Amino acid sequence: MTTDTTGTAARDGHPRPGGPADSPFIRACRRRPGPHTPVWFMRQAGRSLPEYREIRASVPMLESCRRPELVTEITLQPVRRHGVDAAILFSDIVVPVAAAGIDLDIVPGTGPVVAEPIRAAADVERIRPIGRDDVPYVDEAVRQLVVELGDTPLIGFAGAPFTLASYLVEGGPSRTHAKTKALMYGDPELWHALCGRLAEVTLAFLRVQIEAGVSAVQLFDSWAGALSEADYRRYVLPHSTAVLSGLSDAGVPRIHFGVGTAELLGAMGEAGADVVGVDWRTPLDVATHRIGPDKAVQGNLDPAVLLAPWPVVEAEVRRILAQGRAAPGHVFNLGHGVLPETDPDVLTRVVALVHEVSSRRADQG
Ligand code: CP3
Repeated sequence: MTTDTTGTAARDGHPRPGGPADSPFIRACRRRPGPHTPVWFMRQAGRSLPEYREIRASVPMLESCRRPELVTEITLQPVRRHGVDAAILFSDIVVPVAAAGIDLDIVPGTGPVVAEPIRAAADVERIRPIGRDDVPYVDEAVRQLVVELGDTPLIGFAGAPFTLASYLVEGGPSRTHAKTKALMYGDPELWHALCGRLAEVTLAFLRVQIEAGVSAVQLFDSWAGALSEADYRRYVLPHSTAVLSGLSDAGVPRIHFGVGTAELLGAMGEAGADVVGVDWRTPLDVATHRIGPDKAVQGNLDPAVLLAPWPVVEAEVRRILAQGRAAPGHVFNLGHGVLPETDPDVLTRVVALVHEVSSRRADQG
């Protein structure tokens, strides 16, 4: 394996003696000034990269998440190729749920599919508490990665209770989340029992990653935008708060992300995040007004824009950087994950452009 993993530290000529904690990414999460706006991409490790497709060709998705040497290599691929300011652990939101005893698989082109969906109280009991020994491969991969990455921070992650519950109740991906909402409205007691259980699993999974050395964590509530603010506050916020506030003593920045969350941004910030992820529908200056001055924002290039000609991409990147200046801290990212058909060279160009446009010379303060 190549070990050129110095990331951006050596390449952009800014030596950073403080290690990952002093990196542009962690500084932005903590609303501290840095040498440039940091950038990474959700799903940066994945199908847009030929080296990823090659390594995954004969290994099923879940199995690849359980092999530390594969996790390490796949996590490092986008750092080497693009010079992003952070790595994100290669895993999946259903990995801890599988470790907790739920029989599921990740089907190519579909997503997570659950053998026996959760519909009754007895089903909730099938979700066991987890600890390090249930996910030793995650512990091992994070420890290896922290060594290989040097000054480049590693982001750990987990799925939020609502998004996990949606997969477990529906049995697979759903556009309407109809079965999930039917259970939520029809049997609130069971709903809260399920989400309470999932919050425990998620919190434990994030703690394993933090103890192994990740520098930040992201809670993915990808499907929370399916709810009104009132229902989000009633049925979801207490459980996401249990996870994020449960990590308030962990010493790492917490990012809270969802899609279609324009109406939920304030509430998502209240759950205990340091950084709120914003999709492309809400300009970052509007988003920061909704979230408040005590949180950084992350986002928010539409992933589909990366399929457009370069002048369009460049104009959008510049617009987002300008609007991001309204926030007390900005981590550049997409509004959702990299699409598989994205040309990886465009991602590399976006990283260079973000760094160039946002670069602050020391004499400019
Ligand atoms: O961001 C990264 O680079 C880290 C890797 C990562 C994966 N899944 C790898 C993966 C992360 C952060 C996730 C999180 C995840 N998984 C989410 C939340 C983020 C989001 O996109 O909203 C969700 C909803 C899932 C569930 C899931 N897993 C879906 C919808 C899919 C895609 C199914 C498909 O094939 O279209 C997966 C599979 C998956 N997870 C892939 C990758 C790279 C593709 C599988 C493959 O390469 O064969």
